Amino acid sequence: MNGETHRLCSLGDVPDGGAHVVDRAGRPVIVVRRGDSVWGYVNRCPHFSVRLDFEEGQVSCYRAQVLMCAHHSALFRFEDGRCIEGPCAGAALDAVAVQVDATRSVVEVNM
Ligand code: FES
Repeated sequence: MNGETHRLCSLGDVPDGGAHVVDRAGRPVIVVRRGDSVWGYVNRCPHFSVRLDFEEGQVSCYRAQVLMCAHHSALFRFEDGRCIEGPCAGAALDAVAVQVDATRSVVEVNM
């Protein structure tokens, strides 16, 4: 890990229990949040390799636990991106390493 970070958004941009989509050098990334915990995933469903949001930036989340693909309703856990229900059950989103820094920004951490 080289410790290099890139700011994606502020923590306040991500609704608590929800998701925020950011463009990271042309690659859309979904940041999900529960309290001060955040996780990042490439915005691509493992089912058909399409974006998870049907309307750009609109990602449905439930109980601060899972996000849902807008196409065939696969549910992915916040913690590890694993699909727990839906047509690609057992598959997982591609993780993007993120953390909250001292300025309350969500940053991508290059490993
Ligand atoms: S494309 Fe995501 S569940 Fe089918």
